[in-house]
Amino acid sequence: MPDLELTPEVAWALATGGPWPNPAELEGDARFMALALQEGLKGVGFASPNPPVGCVLVREGRVIGAGVHTRAGDPHGEIMALRDAEARGEDPKGSEAFVTLEPCCHHGRTGPCTLALIQGGVARVVVGVRDPNPRVDGGGLAILRAQGIAVKEGVLGEACTRFHAPFFKYIRTGLPWVTLKLALGSDGSLGPVGQTTKVTPPYVQRLAHALRRASEAVVVGRHTIEVDDPQLTDRWPAPSAPHRSFSRVILDEDGQLPAIARVWAPVAGQPVFRAVTGDPVPQRGVEDLHLPPEGRGCSLRHLLYELAAMGVGRVLVEGGGTLAGSFLSQGLVDEFHRFQSDLPALGPSLNLPIPAAWLLRASARWPTGRWEVWR
Ligand SMILES: NC(=O)c1ccc[n+]([C@@H]2O[C@H](COP(=O)([O-])OP(=O)(O)OC[C@H]3O[C@@H](n4cnc5c(N)ncnc54)[C@H](OP(=O)(O)O)[C@@H]3O)[C@@H](O)[C@H]2O)c1
Ligand SMILES: [Zn+2]
Repeated sequence: MPDLELTPEVAWALATGGPWPNPAELEGDARFMALALQEGLKGVGFASPNPPVGCVLVREGRVIGAGVHTRAGDPHGEIMALRDAEARGEDPKGSEAFVTLEPCCHHGRTGPCTLALIQGGVARVVVGVRDPNPRVDGGGLAILRAQGIAVKEGVLGEACTRFHAPFFKYIRTGLPWVTLKLALGSDGSLGPVGQTTKVTPPYVQRLAHALRRASEAVVVGRHTIEVDDPQLTDRWPAPSAPHRSFSRVILDEDGQLPAIARVWAPVAGQPVFRAVTGDPVPQRGVEDLHLPPEGRGCSLRHLLYELAAMGVGRVLVEGGGTLAGSFLSQGLVDEFHRFQSDLPALGPSLNLPIPAAWLLRASARWPTGRWEVWR
């Protein structure tokens, strides 16, 4: 039996790094920051490589505007919240802004949010976490303070840091955030070699689909396509619309997969890529990513840089075991969703190089600890 009901909302929270603070259980600044996080959640899977910053504007304890950043080049969460207030006929003058991440102070593709907040007459700005981007890094807070605006930082700081961890990694390393998902039997196996094994019950598959929705790319090894013939598409019905690009990447370095594999079939908004090391015969409608050879096939680090260059901020690795082992042994995994059944899958044990802290009999998130999905 599941520990908790895996509703679409719970699945979305888990897939995005939650569980997240519940505004209904909080008071004061923390309550409004929890609401700003709820706004931010609407931008996951859309905003990359930018952070999905959420913002709410509050006056006399009442939310007068809310916004989120959903696409690089579009206005940031603060500006969306100011526009929302205007659309509701509310005046932001004298209000408080709750923002998951420090407001930006540089001219990117949009004007600086600090300026918009100042011009909007916002009197107090509450920030979840500082933006480590060297172009901001405390500069946004300093500008606001210099204008006489009251500034408080670190409200729900742990949750906001966890929420923006993919962006922080991208800023510091240039690499996207990597989530590994595997469904294992009680014997630690994926099932007999060369055979499809249904380890995951349908209600847990909902979480697997939420993980795809939260990512901009999914990666699998060649044998997974051979054995399971999956489509690898994002087809989760809730809670957000799939109106952004979702790349499906297959590691098939010598181009051995047949043209009839279902994954090659074109799907609008979900391009499919073949990661190759040589010059194999082209696969119709499929773009090749040329990578240097390394280890069991393609260089995974190069693949991640290629994906980052395409604007991918979050990558989901869906297996199989060989590919999972390569990502883990190279230290390229940031987060592991382990779904483990009570029943044996009756195949070879994987013996993956998973750090001890991850050996939890649950779907777990590292390093923030354990979250049971079922036992
Ligand atoms: N339960 C789950 O969560 C889950 C998820 C996915 C798959 N599966 C199961 O897992 C099985 C397939 O897994 P598998 O371990 O046999 O194969 P795999 O991980 O799906 O594919 C591995 C292959 O990918 C290619 N590759 C290219 N670059 C690589 C790199 N850097 N590191 C590793 N591989 C690279 C290699 O192809 P070459 O052989 O051409 O060199 C390699 O043999 C299937 O039975 C499937 O049903 C289970
Ligand atoms: Zn901004």
